[in-house]
Amino acid sequence: MWSSYWKACILGLLCTILTRNLVAAIGLANITAELEPRLSPGARIILPNNTDFELATYRWSTFAQPRFTVVVEVATERDVEETVKYANDQKLPFLAVSGAHAFTASLANFHYGIEIWLHRLDWTFVSEDGDTATIGGGILTGHLIEALWRKAKYAVTGLCECTSFVGPVLGAGHSVLQGKYGFATDQLISMHLVTAEGEILDVSASEPDPDLFWAIQGAGHNFGIVTSATVKIYDIPDRGLWAHEDYTYGRESVESLFETWNRFLPHQPPTVVLVGFILRNASIDAVNPVVQLSIMQENVTYVDPSITDAFRSINPISIRSGLGTYRDLARWTRFDFNNPVYCTARNWSATHFPTGLLQWNATAQRMAYDVFSRITAKNSPFNTSEFLLEGFPMQGVQAVPEDSTAYPNREDNIVAYPLIGYRTNASLDHMAVEAGEALRRIMVESSGREELHAYVNYALGDESPEQVYGYEEWRLEKLKELKKTYDPERRFSYFEPIPI
Ligand SMILES: Cc1cc2nc3c(=O)[nH]c(=O)nc-3n(C[C@H](O)[C@H](O)[C@H](O)COP(=O)(O)OP(=O)(O)OC[C@H]3O[C@@H](n4cnc5c(N)ncnc54)[C@H](O)[C@@H]3O)c2cc1C
Ligand SMILES: *[C@@H]1O[C@H](CO)[C@@H](O)[C@H](O)[C@H]1NC(C)=O
Ligand SMILES: *[C@@H]1O[C@H](CO)[C@@H](O)[C@H](O)[C@H]1NC(C)=O
Ligand SMILES: *[C@@H]1O[C@H](CO)[C@@H](O)[C@H](O)[C@H]1NC(C)=O
Ligand SMILES: *[C@@H]1O[C@H](CO)[C@@H](O)[C@H](O)[C@H]1NC(C)=O
Ligand SMILES: *[C@@H]1O[C@H](CO)[C@@H](O)[C@H](O)[C@H]1NC(C)=O
Ligand SMILES: *[C@@H]1O[C@H](CO)[C@@H](O)[C@H](O)[C@H]1NC(C)=O
Ligand SMILES: *[C@@H]1O[C@H](CO)[C@@H](O)[C@H](O)[C@H]1NC(C)=O
Ligand SMILES: *[C@@H]1O[C@H](CO)[C@@H](O)[C@H](O)[C@H]1NC(C)=O
Repeated sequence: MWSSYWKACILGLLCTILTRNLVAAIGLANITAELEPRLSPGARIILPNNTDFELATYRWSTFAQPRFTVVVEVATERDVEETVKYANDQKLPFLAVSGAHAFTASLANFHYGIEIWLHRLDWTFVSEDGDTATIGGGILTGHLIEALWRKAKYAVTGLCECTSFVGPVLGAGHSVLQGKYGFATDQLISMHLVTAEGEILDVSASEPDPDLFWAIQGAGHNFGIVTSATVKIYDIPDRGLWAHEDYTYGRESVESLFETWNRFLPHQPPTVVLVGFILRNASIDAVNPVVQLSIMQENVTYVDPSITDAFRSINPISIRSGLGTYRDLARWTRFDFNNPVYCTARNWSATHFPTGLLQWNATAQRMAYDVFSRITAKNSPFNTSEFLLEGFPMQGVQAVPEDSTAYPNREDNIVAYPLIGYRTNASLDHMAVEAGEALRRIMVESSGREELHAYVNYALGDESPEQVYGYEEWRLEKLKELKKTYDPERRFSYFEPIPI
């Protein structure tokens, strides 16, 4: 798998140089002349010589980034349909972009072609009864949270403000609200989907094909471009009150922290969320990484002492508690629009190596901490890396039958992953992957099971289809059949493509 990435990368570079010029020579003047008249007045075709091209093709992580020849900034669903048809006529590849946060290796296979930039599909309509909202396919999570907040509502979304809403939904959508309601994808009522052929389908659990609806809930990147989604929304209780308590732990507390977390896991209430990071912060510890853990709880003025007592008692370097609203959660966890690591990074490569786990193994976390410490020491180019520890509540997720969506691993209580980060430099990519895989091996080998579960939205892209889409044979068979039906030409093959 990995070597195919390198082949693609090398070919990609050549292809980029060659085909960019080729397409520029034969196609670019024509795309404006031929496609523009078919688009709505609000749409724009952005060529590389336009000063907005850089903004339009911005990627949060430059690792394996796709290379675009031209951007179509769509304003309507019809624009997406017309662009896909035009691209197919011209035999040009196309790729949807919403929040531009994906980092999976197969994106590098996109050597030239059309970016379909969805960011202006950013509207939100709340239904009359207030139980659902219909949401534009390119809206960013932070903008959706804001639009719904004004109506005292919230939806199940990812935590990060600057990723899109739909992007996470296509793979499951881990959320602070999943303890109550399930994954973001579990909230789908229906969606408008532009297919590989550029036809618009109104997809729901009953129409036109229940299996297609099933597949979009976990393997959605493979089947179409979502121009809008209708999802369940909920009243924000108690004016959106949330409390948090944050701890910073030093090297000596690693085992006791993960043992404490394990004891807490079976009792985690559906309204309590744990998010942690192992990272370096020289102003706290110049030599060793620290562990930062946030515990957040809904509808309380302080996090329940029966939870915090245990985490306070294991010798944190510092404790900070606070009170706010639902809108503050992203900021408390460093996933807000202004965060320099997770939202506004420039020229930064981020590689992820996710593992889904039933619980922590404190011995292995010590090993992982020590390896992470070595990899990121002193002037290592990887010294801005982080190791993420995600403990979202699971009640709502596990209440949904595992065969009812394409997402395969509802039993996993935790997701852990090193994010090896570095200033963009292709000659470091290989080392970054080796470092991340070494850390991931520690996690898998100590997990008490042989199989790697790699959450599709975080996967590096070198995992097997089983590791991403599940080990039960029927799942992959079903996905392959659907892929053959809806995308036999594999036009949607840049994000964890289903093999056929
Ligand atoms: C900082 C950060 C925080 C994250 N937080 C969470 C989280 O809390 N929960 C969680 O579950 N995941 C989270 N993720 C993972 C996230 O789900 C994926 O990175 C996701 O692919 C990002 O979507 P995007 O629209 O921002 O990126 P993009 O790169 O724009 O899109 C990602 C993929 O989806 C496709 N796509 C985008 N929009 C559409 C559409 N409307 N229709 C069809 N295809 C589309 C693109 O073609 C691409 O293949 C996070 C990732 C990062 C980097
Ligand atoms: C950009 O390139 C296109 C196609 O080559 C050309 O028609 C257009 O005049 C150029 N625009 C600018 C501002 O250079
Ligand atoms: C460009 O447009 C012209 C006029 O419509 C057409 O004759 C020509 O074949 C087009 N070129 C390509 C490569 O599509
Ligand atoms: C490092 O820690 C200090 C002290 O807690 C904090 O103020 C600062 O924001 C941290 N830096 C980063 C980059 O997180
Ligand atoms: C929020 O807390 C208050 C006070 O404890 C309680 O009365 C109310 O029912 C809670 N709301 C929800 C939705 O649980
Ligand atoms: C990112 O890298 C490019 C190319 O190396 C360079 O032109 C640009 O100035 C850099 N941007 C930042 C913000 O460092
Ligand atoms: C990280 O390494 C770079 C060199 O790659 C160095 O300039 C920087 O000071 C280091 N940062 C820390 C916190 O050690
Ligand atoms: C890229 O990384 C290599 C290997 O560490 C280093 O020698 C080189 O200076 C780096 N290039 C840049 C532009 O930082
Ligand atoms: C925890 O990890 C260690 C190190 O890999 C391993 O030896 C041990 O068997 C693991 N424990 C469990 C319960 O799986």
